[in-house]
Amino acid sequence: MKITKKMSDALNDQFAKEMFSAYLYAAMSADCTFKGRKGSARWFFLQSKEELDHARKIYEFLLDRGAKPVYAQLDKPQESWDSLRKAFEASLAHEQFISDSILNLVKTAKELDDTPTEIFLQWFVTEQIEEEAAVEDVLTRLEQVGEDNRGLYMLDRELGARE
Ligand code: FEO
Repeated sequence: MKITKKMSDALNDQFAKEMFSAYLYAAMSADCTFKGRKGSARWFFLQSKEELDHARKIYEFLLDRGAKPVYAQLDKPQESWDSLRKAFEASLAHEQFISDSILNLVKTAKELDDTPTEIFLQWFVTEQIEEEAAVEDVLTRLEQVGEDNRGLYMLDRELGARE
């Protein structure tokens, strides 16, 4: 079942957003590593890898539906965040942006009566709930720790235990 140009263009936009997400989290990982937050660096590195998986899912779906995945030019991500909290706040804002984007794609799929794409996107809708919840959880813990250096050290170690 061949996909419409409108839907494949919209999915290619999302493909670029997922690639940018990978880029953004890789930049956060580099910033954390540079600042000696090894655990957080690992957390963001793994997140970056997940984003590449998200992009890959779209890549494969496009090909399965007879459309070509297109590699877009990506913006340069921010390279430094003032604190771990600022980085996770930026991460939450980004995930909320991605969630809105996915919901808009669902809307487009419905408008085009494109059931396969609508079903494909369900995975992303669920994934976004998990992604936002995971970042909110870290922000809650950062709130509890406040400026306490020892607490931040412990939290960083905990984040590094992410599988
Ligand atoms: Fe692929 Fe974090 O959304």
